[in-house]
Amino acid sequence: MYVCNCNGVTRSLVDEAIDAGAMGPEAVLAHHGCEPCCGQCLSEIAEGITCGGMARIQSRSLIAAE
Ligand code: FES
Repeated sequence: MYVCNCNGVTRSLVDEAIDAGAMGPEAVLAHHGCEPCCGQCLSEIAEGITCGGMARIQSRSLIAAE
């Protein structure tokens, strides 16, 4: 599923960029050599960073605690 239709960036590509350390929507797009065009995806990418980042931190904490 595309998150950014302008650049053809999918949810899995967004997750890949976040895992690589992208801290903002522009950084996620830049990770894949893209730039914002219309900007409609930026809030969704930011939400993915917030929600996905928290889930990853919690997941890593659980793994580290085992
Ligand atoms: S949908 Fe991402 S910049 Fe337009």
